[in-house]
Amino acid sequence: MSTLVIVGAQWGDEAKGKLVDVLGSEADMVIRYSGGNNAGHTVIAEGKEYKFQLIPAGILHPNVASILGGGMVICPSGLLEELKRTKAITADLGKLYISSAAHVVFPYHRLLDSLEEEARGQNKIGTTSRGIGPAYEDKVARLGIRMSEFVDPNRFPQRLREVLDVKNKYLQLFNKEPIEYDSLLKEYTGYADQLRPLVVDVEPMIQEAVKQGKRVLFEGAQGTFLDLDCGTYPYVTSSHPIAAGACLGTGVGPRAIDNVLGVCKAYTTRVGSGPFPTELNDKTGEWIREQGREYGTVTGRGRRCGWLDLILLRHSCRLNSLSGLVVTRLDVLSGLPELQVATGYKTPSGPVQHVPNDLVEFAHVEPAYLTMEGWEGDLRGCRKMEDLPASARAYLKFIEEFTETPVAIVSIGPDRKETIVVRPELIWG
Ligand code: GDP
Ligand code: IMO
Ligand code: MG
Repeated sequence: MSTLVIVGAQWGDEAKGKLVDVLGSEADMVIRYSGGNNAGHTVIAEGKEYKFQLIPAGILHPNVASILGGGMVICPSGLLEELKRTKAITADLGKLYISSAAHVVFPYHRLLDSLEEEARGQNKIGTTSRGIGPAYEDKVARLGIRMSEFVDPNRFPQRLREVLDVKNKYLQLFNKEPIEYDSLLKEYTGYADQLRPLVVDVEPMIQEAVKQGKRVLFEGAQGTFLDLDCGTYPYVTSSHPIAAGACLGTGVGPRAIDNVLGVCKAYTTRVGSGPFPTELNDKTGEWIREQGREYGTVTGRGRRCGWLDLILLRHSCRLNSLSGLVVTRLDVLSGLPELQVATGYKTPSGPVQHVPNDLVEFAHVEPAYLTMEGWEGDLRGCRKMEDLPASARAYLKFIEEFTETPVAIVSIGPDRKETIVVRPELIWG
């Protein structure tokens, strides 16, 4: 057993980055499998703070190969800037590779992201405006430019001309000026020259590592309910954050995956629009936001906060076939006398125990809550389960029982050492 997927079990920002950094120290290879710089993964290591958007959080371990997988959409200027920013903090980094199959994000993607959002009016998704949706649209339309073409000086000028012709027609529909070919080609050729040495066919490397029994960690971005197929459509991202996305985005089959850990907060947050049954639009919601400094890494937007939704979490455990849960930010809830957890939904046609596919139906469910005892005190010094207050342990036990999924790890602070490994056998086997 040596392959492990780290997946966001809710709506993103569950602390996947922290977990990948912590477990990355034991890995040989870390691969980001989906999304782009819509992600913001904060890692605190040895007192320094890193904000990764495209680079896998494994990069802080010099012996680990870090790979941007083929399922990603990559903004070259964003990546170069992120590399510079990271190198300015530490020189001690692992080797970085980019899959030649990954797609490239262009300025017209960002522009169209904003224009499409504007056109949605009241129904806007609240995207990160990084051009992610339009870049995946091009991929599905079989129009996208892949890394292999981007770094090939013989093919890129022609491909860019073809695509830009189409994009400029589309921009005309929005009454926008066309994007000028020559300056875009020049700008992007400059990026290609810098990134070319990193672009390789990574899939055989990954397959070989898996075959040799090396420890391969697949780093998820976003979260299960932002998945294009399995999330709260259309309030989703345009990729596959769920565990199955690890196969699509890296070139391995499902039988190559040994363990899957789902990272979830001890409560729930969501950034952007869309239904959120357990959302707290009151003082408790504000309290959680302030206590947990729940503001987005990418856009700085305040995250919507609410109680833990066990109906959603159980669905997530099943969608991702989780081996175990990683419950993070348990420390944030310290000080609340009582906590609520959703254990069912009430609907006009009676109670339900599952997540309805229909968005309108889901938007109108009312959570049925179970009240649990809260706890007090700073949990950040706890290093084993017995150090946690009894009511915090009871909370974790209830999560395990309801979701039928064991808790593998508990996180009680952002730092590497603020981590309690409960069941090590669920990590690498
Ligand atoms: P990601 O997108 O899933 O990687 O998560 P983000 O990095 O966007 O958000 C998680 C935030 O929580 C980061 O600022 C982390 O430093 C911080 N964090 C991680 N684990 C814990 C924890 O157990 N407790 C607290 N209080 N903060 C944590
Ligand atoms: P990490 O990896 C939280 C949300 C956006 C928006 C929707 C679509 O840090 O957990 P997009 O720009 O992807 O088209 O926006 O998805 N979203 C995230 N929310 N964490 C993320 O990433 C997110 N990436 C996208 O807020 O609602
Ligand atoms: Mg994040």
